[in-house]
Amino acid sequence: MKKTLVVLAHPSIEKRSLANKIIIEKIRTLEGVKIKNLYQEYPSFQFNIETEQAALTEAGSIVFQFPFYWYSIPGILKEWMDQVLKHGFAFGSTGDKLKGKQFLVSTTIGGPADAYREGGSNNFPINDLLKPLQQMANLTGMKYNTPLVSHSMIYVPGVYNKKEEVEQRAKDHAQRLYDYIAAS
Ligand SMILES: Cc1cc2nc3c(=O)[nH]c(=O)nc-3n(C[C@H](O)[C@H](O)[C@H](O)COP(=O)(O)O)c2cc1C
Repeated sequence: MKKTLVVLAHPSIEKRSLANKIIIEKIRTLEGVKIKNLYQEYPSFQFNIETEQAALTEAGSIVFQFPFYWYSIPGILKEWMDQVLKHGFAFGSTGDKLKGKQFLVSTTIGGPADAYREGGSNNFPINDLLKPLQQMANLTGMKYNTPLVSHSMIYVPGVYNKKEEVEQRAKDHAQRLYDYIAAS
């Protein structure tokens, strides 16, 4: 099994997460998996670039795990990309440190699948909204695997979804991610 770096971007995995917490707890037990909790390690968004680049270099497989926010990645993950994936490291004529690695987007999405299509309330298919990450993988030479996506993952009592149903979907997602990492 390849060493896997899971870059986790959730603002409060302990106190305000249902879905991502279940997913992270499941994969935490896998050998060779390093989980980098960005909001916990870097609350002021000032990354240690050397540490982050070393963690990426060591890994054979990189996973971005996050709740889908405003049709995109959470802000800290974008800032981490901006600071860490530098020219000469991740891209450019000598920037080949990510080349050949496996890359997976693993995300939980509040809205239902049916909303994410042309004519649906969110207009665009999820794979279209994830294209900046796909192109980041292309530019850096990583292999872009089919994203792991789960819908209807928001739980607001009496408003959105039933807790047990969201929990079950999160467990299913966790198992799919576990199997992906174990097979890598
Ligand atoms: C700031 C914020 C922005 C969100 N934006 C979206 C969105 O654009 N589309 C969507 O379907 N759900 C959106 N959601 C719902 C989250 O995707 C959902 O609550 C999350 O995936 C559940 O994971 P968790 O239980 O680990 O927090 C948003 C939630 C928050 C807090």
